[in-house]
Amino acid sequence: MSNVVVVGTQWGDEGKGKVVDLLTSRADLVVRFQGGNNAGHTLVVNGKQTICHLIPSGILHDGKKCLIGNGLVVDPEVLLEEIDTLIKEGIPVSPNNLSLSEKAHLIMPYHKAIDLAREEAKGKHKIGTTGRGIGPCYEDKAGRTGIRAIDLLEPDTLEEKIEQNLKEKNFYLTKFLGAQPLEFQPILDHYRAMEELLRPYIRDVSLEIDQAIRSGKQILFEGAQGTHLDIDHGTYPFVTSSNPVSGAACAGAGVGPDKLHHINGIVKAYTTRVGSGPFPTELLDKTGDYIQEKGAEFGATTGRRRRCGWLDLLMVRDSVRFNGLTSLSITKLDVLTGLEKLKICVGYELQGKRIDSRPASLKMLAQCIPVYEELPGWHDDISDAREIDRLPRETRDYLKKIEEITEVPLSIISVGPMREQTIMIRDPF
Ligand code: GDP
Ligand code: IMO
Ligand code: MG
Repeated sequence: MSNVVVVGTQWGDEGKGKVVDLLTSRADLVVRFQGGNNAGHTLVVNGKQTICHLIPSGILHDGKKCLIGNGLVVDPEVLLEEIDTLIKEGIPVSPNNLSLSEKAHLIMPYHKAIDLAREEAKGKHKIGTTGRGIGPCYEDKAGRTGIRAIDLLEPDTLEEKIEQNLKEKNFYLTKFLGAQPLEFQPILDHYRAMEELLRPYIRDVSLEIDQAIRSGKQILFEGAQGTHLDIDHGTYPFVTSSNPVSGAACAGAGVGPDKLHHINGIVKAYTTRVGSGPFPTELLDKTGDYIQEKGAEFGATTGRRRRCGWLDLLMVRDSVRFNGLTSLSITKLDVLTGLEKLKICVGYELQGKRIDSRPASLKMLAQCIPVYEELPGWHDDISDAREIDRLPRETRDYLKKIEEITEVPLSIISVGPMREQTIMIRDPF
């Protein structure tokens, strides 16, 4: 029996949703452990697209259990909407196949208001957040004033906490950010109404996972965002407010490190970023436009155009170290088809010296010049390939280069958005 963690190795949107959906057939439980509805994980099954923001990407499979761990910040309104949308599409979602950790923190209306007002105030220096209240909610968690799912079940605790928080938040919103204050009673009424609907889902997720492991079941942990959006290891402050690295699966789901056996890192065959922040291999030319259009690189959550650039293996190598990656999945390889030449960044040059990991200082990073290796492209359509030998030699060379530079074996190659557009080299389970 083994448990697998899937994480993004870049700035998010690597195709985690597709890989998690694919691997769910081998798992019994699928667990999200950090982030919130800033995530947008796209699954394409039988020609139909589903985007998961909070519910784990295993939800399309019958007989699998999906768990939302304590490490998430959950907007209860979004969760109920997501449950509703899936049910309308004929996908059964109920307390039989979905649990929400009683310790998960709840996103409140004032978190969203603060997120939006702060970004507005920052103007051109904004982070480019998703505006979903993620940062302010994690701040309250760390500040020990947060409201947790369990508080929904205790009406007096909920009332007291909303009242206390709102006093401080309204002061900050109006006096510092120049935004509108929020009213207490409508928030309380709204959260009380949602309590009734959410109550059956609220459970001890750590215990559920433990019981599953004891009965020989396999767990798939689904990361959100990406390693370089990690609050500790990413391009701070242009990051999210959680730890998307694999180690966070322990704290964010309530399991010990001995329960994580295999760590799969998802690498998009090129690099994208949505929102502001440094991007050394960004392409601001027609090749960038080509990749953006061919890869349909628009945010699954906000619809924003994603910035595109060459594959940056210095970043991926950093991700190997931060996550302890034991295999890599390469996605969106088909998008590169048709380009005459491909570049892969294998390191940076900083003040005339070659460096192999990213400097912490953004000022230093701004001085870094990517060192590229150039490889020939390929023209044959690869989206129907199901075995590695069916790929053109140039495509295999591109993959070989990734394996060589990262020193991590490849397990899955994705050549299209659909579940079956996949080459399985080694099953991570
Ligand atoms: P996630 O956040 O990591 O789950 O990734 P997103 O769902 O935000 O973005 C990945 C996008 O690429 C989605 O639209 C997927 O349907 C799509 N996708 C995933 N794998 C492939 C692939 O191999 N080829 C192509 N062309 N699209 C893919
Ligand atoms: P998935 O799971 C890509 C980015 C935002 C912004 C920064 C901070 O789909 O890969 P936040 O709202 O989290 O405070 O925004 O992080 N960001 C993502 N970018 N994919 C995501 O999730 C992201 N979640 C947050 O664009 O730059
Ligand atoms: Mg996404």
